[in-house]
Amino acid sequence: MTQLTKSSLKFTLISECNVSNARTGVMNLTHYNVETPVFMPVGTQGTLKGILPDQLEQIDCQIILANAYHLGVRPGPDLLKKAGGLHKFMNWNRALLTDSGGFQMVSLLKLAKITEKGVKFKSPYGADDCMLTPEESIRIQNAIGADIIMQLDDVIATNITGSRVEESTFRTSRWLDRCLVAHERPHDQAIFPIVQGAIDERLRLISTQLHMEKDVKGYALGGLSGGESKNIFWKMVLLSSKILPKEKPRYVMGVGFALDIVICCALGIDMFDCVFPTRTARFGCALIPSGQINLKLNKYKFDFQPIDNECKCSTCKRYTRAYLHSIIPMQAVACHLLTIHNLYFQISLMRSIRESIKRNMFPQFVKEFISKVYSHRP
Ligand code: GUN
Ligand code: ZN
Repeated sequence: MTQLTKSSLKFTLISECNVSNARTGVMNLTHYNVETPVFMPVGTQGTLKGILPDQLEQIDCQIILANAYHLGVRPGPDLLKKAGGLHKFMNWNRALLTDSGGFQMVSLLKLAKITEKGVKFKSPYGADDCMLTPEESIRIQNAIGADIIMQLDDVIATNITGSRVEESTFRTSRWLDRCLVAHERPHDQAIFPIVQGAIDERLRLISTQLHMEKDVKGYALGGLSGGESKNIFWKMVLLSSKILPKEKPRYVMGVGFALDIVICCALGIDMFDCVFPTRTARFGCALIPSGQINLKLNKYKFDFQPIDNECKCSTCKRYTRAYLHSIIPMQAVACHLLTIHNLYFQISLMRSIRESIKRNMFPQFVKEFISKVYSHRP
C-alpha cells in the first residue's frame, strides 16, 4: 500500500444542511482531530484564565487559541523552542491555533504604528519598542508550534473608511506573501490567510479572491464583529463564505456570542474564537440559553437552583446560584466555577449544532435556539 504523506491539515466534510450553508466536518490536525463547527476558547498567554488544560479536556474542548504577540514577549520564542513548543510547555495535547499578533496590538493596546515593514509597538512590559514584521510573527509562531497559525494582517477599526481600507486590504495580501515565504513548518503547521476590507464589499471580495490564489489549507475572515450592524456583519461573512472553496475550513475571528455563532454556521462558517465566555465569567456572569445572568445581583442571594437546570457541567451539578453569588467576592473560585460552566455551555452549543446538521435537523435547531433566546429571562 502506498504511504500517504502527512498533511498539516486535512478537512473532511461529514454532512451539509440542505436548507442553509451549514456543514459539519472533521479537521485532522497535527495534534488532534477537531470536529467542526468548533469554538476555540482564548488563552492569550499560554494559560486559559480560570481553568487548567486537564479540565478543558474533561469538558471536551478540542482546540484552544493563543497569541503570538503575548507569547513572543513572554516567555519568548527562544525559550518556547527550547521547551519543545507550547503544547509541551503548557501540557496541552490537543489542537492549538495561534493568532499572529497584529490584532492584539492594534485593537486592544492602541500602542501600535503600522508601516509596510510591519507593526511597531511599545512593549506593555516596559521593554524596548518592538517591530513585529510578518517574518517575525511567523518565526514566533513556528517556535510556538501551533497546529494552525495565522498570517500577520493589517487590522483596522471597522468604522474606518477611505484609502486606509484599501491600503489595509492590499497590505494584508502582501504580508501574506511574506508570511508564506517565512513559514518553515508547512508540513505540520497550517497557515491561514485573513480576509480584510472592513465593510467595503468590493475590497472584501478582492481580498477573498487574492487569498484564494494561494496554496493554503483554510481561510479566516478578520476585521468583523467590531461594532458594525448585524446585517452588515452577516453580509460580509456570506460574501466571502459563498465563494471560498467548500473543501477548506472557514474561520470567523473574534466571534463568540451564541446567536452570532448559530447564524454564522448557517452561512457556512466552521471555526470561531472569542474571549467572551471566559471574560464574562470573570465579571460574575453565566451563560444560559436566553443570554446571560449576572450572579452579582442581589436577586440571586436566595436562588437555590443551579445556573441552568438543563446544564450537565460540574458547576451546575454541585452548586447553586445563591452559593456562587455569595462567593463572588472570593474572585478565584467563583471565576473558576463560572469559567467551567461558560465554556461547557459554549462547547455544548457547538456539539448541538454539529449533531443537528448530521441529523439533517439544523433548521429545527435554529428555530428552537431562537425561541429560547427570545423567551423571558429568569
Ligand atoms: N481577531 C479578531 N479579529 C481579528 C482580525 O481581524 N485579525 C486578527 N489577526 N485577529 C483577529
Ligand atoms: Zn453549568
